[in-house]
Amino acid sequence: MMQTWFTDAKLGIFIHWGIYAVQKRGGESWPLIRGEVSMEDYHSQLEHFTAEDYDPSAWARLIKRAGAQYAVLTTKHHDGVALWPTHEQGPSIPNQGNTGDLVGPFLEALRQEGLHTGLYFSHTDWAQSEHFQCITGLTETELQQLRSTKHNYINEWHKLDEHFAPDQEYYAKWNRFLEFRRNQLHELLTQYGTLDLLWFDVMIGLDHHDYESKALRDFIHELSPNTIINSRLEEYGDYETPEQFIPVYPPEGPWEFCVTTNNSWSYTGREQDYKTPYEIISMFCECLGMGGNMLLNIGPDERGTVPEKQVHLLESLGDWIQKHQEAVYGTVRGLPHGYAYGPSSLNKERDILYLYLSHLPGESTFIKGIHNEVNAISILGTGTTCAYKRIGGAPWMNVPGSLTIHIPEEAADTWVTVVKIELDGPLKLYSGEGVEIDLN
Ligand code: GLC
Repeated sequence: MMQTWFTDAKLGIFIHWGIYAVQKRGGESWPLIRGEVSMEDYHSQLEHFTAEDYDPSAWARLIKRAGAQYAVLTTKHHDGVALWPTHEQGPSIPNQGNTGDLVGPFLEALRQEGLHTGLYFSHTDWAQSEHFQCITGLTETELQQLRSTKHNYINEWHKLDEHFAPDQEYYAKWNRFLEFRRNQLHELLTQYGTLDLLWFDVMIGLDHHDYESKALRDFIHELSPNTIINSRLEEYGDYETPEQFIPVYPPEGPWEFCVTTNNSWSYTGREQDYKTPYEIISMFCECLGMGGNMLLNIGPDERGTVPEKQVHLLESLGDWIQKHQEAVYGTVRGLPHGYAYGPSSLNKERDILYLYLSHLPGESTFIKGIHNEVNAISILGTGTTCAYKRIGGAPWMNVPGSLTIHIPEEAADTWVTVVKIELDGPLKLYSGEGVEIDLN
């Protein structure tokens, strides 16, 4: 069920950590499915995933330092390899590798820092042979043969629709898989204290009726009524998850934009296309302006070390947030498109408008259509006040004109400058097309 802590939090940190960091192919567990590696070779990463530098407290401190209020750790990607010692029949790093539990200590560390806890869990599980058989239509024998080769399974599940007639045996297999999924989620929801957020990922091969989304949601709620669920449970989730793309128009309800710092969710050792602090902060402000959260990813290596550039980006974002806290946490979506030269948000009382300027204006910036009187305008984090005036409009005909605001260059932020506009009451906006002024 949606909770206000989530819509107020604005920033979360995503952590993609799994055995795929050993072979550093990038693309998390996808190379397994795309036929780039055999199952055996892929699973050989289990022994080399040392997690020797795993320091959950240091991660939690970094997350807090970034200004985030929650984090989401991949407990099991599509490869089905669990980061916790599951009692179910499935690969698990603590059970088969050389590490202890990697989930519990992290959740504890988050709580120690006063952060909200989130876990990622993929519905899709390549390691469960029954799941794999059901979505590909392959028999157990065929599957065993293919697993020792580099086989591209994507072709298989796309074939399924054409010649597929499920029989009783099929349903029995699928139900066993669903029970397995339920049991693993039961472990995650009952062994580690209250979980604030469950972040599901893709249902591959079949649709959400087959994956029984509604029953799953009811099951989760029974165990943990306050746990928020993302929308990768179709309409049974609590919020939308646009990925690698900030919506042009915001979804109606709560949402969270998930994004990488570079070109891969998982560690590759040769990460490229890093976004700059300016780009990350600007994207974050877009989310704030449309009332959404940003879930920014890091991908630690197999030892548990977060790449330095990712640390740097998180710290830069943290510095900016620290200076502009008031225009971050607890804000709500601001002016609709077309009113200002940049995104904006409002405080909960809706009488302070925050304008995020990624680009410094020439002479002044202006905002259209505000009926309210303005009490004061300043640059957040500096105390510098801004000169402003109204231009145009015909207040006697209820047409407000524009507010022009001068931004003193010396008060500008290195990345995104925030203008704080204090109004005489809750925002009143003109939304008309303008009229002919026939009374002057
Ligand atoms: C996609 C990818 C997956 C990644 C996820 C993060 O669904 O399949 O690898 O973990 O996005 O949002």
